Amino acid sequence: MGKLIYKKQILKDISTESLIKEQLSVFHEHKDKLRAKSYWYKLIDLLNGELSFHNVKSNGYPHNIHSFPAKFPPQLPKVFIQNLTDKGDIVLDPMVGSGTTAVEALINGRMGLGFDIDPLAIKISNAKTSLINESKVIEIGWKIYNRTKKQLSNNHKVLLDEYYSSYPSKTLDFFNFWFLKENQLELFLLQKSIKAIEDDVYRNFFEVIFSSIIITKSGGVSLALDLGHTRPHRVKALIDSERNVLFGEATEKILKKKHLVKLRKSAIEEFRKRISNYTDKDRFNSKYINPKIKFGDSQNLELDNESVDLIFTSPPYASNAIDYMRAHKFSLAWFGYNLEMLTEKRSKYIGAENVLNYKFEKLPGFTTDKINQVKSSDIKKGKVLHRYYSEMKKSISEMYRVLKPGKAAIVVVGSSRLRGIDTETHICLSEIGRDIGFHEPIIGIRELDRNKRMLPVSAKKNITSQIQNRMHEEYVIAFYKKGKGLG
Ligand SMILES: C[S@@+](CC[C@H](N)C(=O)[O-])C[C@H]1O[C@@H](n2cnc3c(N)ncnc32)[C@H](O)[C@@H]1O
Repeated sequence: MGKLIYKKQILKDISTESLIKEQLSVFHEHKDKLRAKSYWYKLIDLLNGELSFHNVKSNGYPHNIHSFPAKFPPQLPKVFIQNLTDKGDIVLDPMVGSGTTAVEALINGRMGLGFDIDPLAIKISNAKTSLINESKVIEIGWKIYNRTKKQLSNNHKVLLDEYYSSYPSKTLDFFNFWFLKENQLELFLLQKSIKAIEDDVYRNFFEVIFSSIIITKSGGVSLALDLGHTRPHRVKALIDSERNVLFGEATEKILKKKHLVKLRKSAIEEFRKRISNYTDKDRFNSKYINPKIKFGDSQNLELDNESVDLIFTSPPYASNAIDYMRAHKFSLAWFGYNLEMLTEKRSKYIGAENVLNYKFEKLPGFTTDKINQVKSSDIKKGKVLHRYYSEMKKSISEMYRVLKPGKAAIVVVGSSRLRGIDTETHICLSEIGRDIGFHEPIIGIRELDRNKRMLPVSAKKNITSQIQNRMHEEYVIAFYKKGKGLG
């Protein structure tokens, strides 16, 4: 069951006490009125209900075709979509990531809208929500596999010449560093066949299947050890099933350290596995409304005022805790994206660390104090946090603008730690939202399933256990835009 933030154990926290007391008093003041206003009452009920969804399987959905850091369980948006909207309503996720909200909107007969600035996120969300036919996917998949296999039996010298002339030298250096030669050739041929698919929807779908064999927690068919959430490191050794060393040096000492050694996976065989295991029955029904997923910045949405019935989203963590592009370039480079352009893009993500010439926003009291607290320990980190809250202020303002009155934006966030200081992101965002005009926000707590949500792990010991606990939970903030009745 979820807990509301104003429960006792949170009240002990001095720094959040005043804000929470205020929330409580507003809640009590409005209690009778609230009962009458069913939407608001439903919101409180939902935040008090199940928010964690551990050990709940999402089989039968397209949710798992590609890994994505910090995605939330599909049951979370689903319960809000089902309880707060009607069929045909518009559900927006302005930082759509891997499309979890958009998929749930689709499956539940709502009109999903999604924006993101990450090209791979757009591809994944589109692949998960496009109306495609399962047997056609399997037919095309096998054709690609068989063609690639056949090409590999041809003269490799000719194939390699073609490969080397297809990418700029910087990209080839990147591939040489991160991929075994054999896999480079297999990946080149796979992507070549995928590029030749004429239908945009199927081509995009297969690009995502292709990407899913590289970007995994284990680093997939690359030489990276982790493309989930940390800075990727190259394996010390790559071995085959007979323990022959294919890359690096496999001394006894290294072989004992299993986390430094990887077993070679062939790119085309991994591709074949994806096709053989592919099954996806639930979404492909023409009665569903096709969602719209677009490239776009949450701070400046291309949407009309008061046009959305529900927002369900989760922003990046403060201070670039997950650097999406660091991992995503491992597959985007194969589709011809320029590496320098991708690196430059990193500074555009909410929470990025580039603060030079950044125009900071004026923020309310608690949030400003928090930034100053971090600044007094580390001026640069404090500025990074200031940038994050500035960007979130602009994003929350946009949410306010596009929401219809009497509707809510649900924002799922976690706290970060900067120089040992808990950023209390949930409290700061609530304060910012209230400042923008939302009704007093309510905050629910969800326990994180750390095995699933691919979040950065801290091994530091010198932090209080209270902050440690915080990192094991996330917050579900309900921002309610006042309608004619309440408030
Ligand atoms: C925590 S992830 C969202 C995960 C998503 N809820 C899911 O289940 O897959 C945050 C997303 O915000 C995106 N993002 C970062 N800055 C953005 C911006 N300015 N506008 C839109 N999206 C942005 C990132 O690319 C990332 O996909």
